[in-house]
Amino acid sequence: MKVVLAGDLDATEWQAWQAALAEALPEATWLTLERAAAAPDDVSVAVVANPPPGGLAPFRRLRLIQSLWAGVDRLLADATLPSDVPIARMVDPAMSAAMAETVLWATLALHRGFFAYQQRQRGGEWRQHRQRRADEVAVLVLGRGEMGRAVAARLRPQGYPVSAWGRDGGPLAPLLAAHEVVINLLPLTASTRSLLDARFFAAMRAGAAIVNFGRGGHVVDDDLLAALDSGHLRHAVLDVFRTEPLPPSHRFWAHPRVTMLPHAAALTDHRSAAAVVAANLRALRDGRPVAHLVDHVRGY
Ligand code: GLV
Repeated sequence: MKVVLAGDLDATEWQAWQAALAEALPEATWLTLERAAAAPDDVSVAVVANPPPGGLAPFRRLRLIQSLWAGVDRLLADATLPSDVPIARMVDPAMSAAMAETVLWATLALHRGFFAYQQRQRGGEWRQHRQRRADEVAVLVLGRGEMGRAVAARLRPQGYPVSAWGRDGGPLAPLLAAHEVVINLLPLTASTRSLLDARFFAAMRAGAAIVNFGRGGHVVDDDLLAALDSGHLRHAVLDVFRTEPLPPSHRFWAHPRVTMLPHAAALTDHRSAAAVVAANLRALRDGRPVAHLVDHVRGY
């Protein structure tokens, strides 16, 4: 089985991936995009991490595109992608666990006001605020997939009342009004793009906080900035942005009510993800069902 590796990772990172993949599935041949292009019809699988648009077009005999990313929005946006080739998302328990840890950090810091203390330290201000219990801080998780479920399971034992909303979960506005911390883990699709807009923020409680660990395209940046500037929202924790890296001139960088991560809430783990890829490629080879296939119409 010849596999092409395509994506925007740097050379060191590809080497780490290639080593992990070769160890997990030694019987396959792992080729870079350049090497695979010499004999494209020999290649039956593409393993990708944001491949260049059009980069997979020469490979006309692909039987599977396996993403190393959980979110496949950028992949599906490539109009040259062969529409009849199945795409599998990355569903990696280690990645879901990392996401649950990062959400726990953000939730704890919002609940206890640690981000506000950080600001006060910078201003040389020694002042305590009221300490609340976890059961007083209701958390709403948007997304009921792998990530959403892992996050809810991590938060509940800490004492937070957790609700979850999915795409067929009924009206969102009453839930937004009833929770203090809202965590977005939805996939980016035609129906969720720009969901976090002025209407959405207005439906949130005064003094609530938003955590966006989904995609930058979920958020209308100016609407979020307006909600933070007016004080309607207390804080935003953001990991993902419409343009990444976030341009230096963007207001999020220095906003006192914004805490940012560089798309690092949950990275794909080489070791565990390589095992997930190997299991899927073996299933393909042996004619068994491939796991975590993307529904092109649904968009994830
Ligand atoms: C990260 O954002 C991913 O989709 O894997």
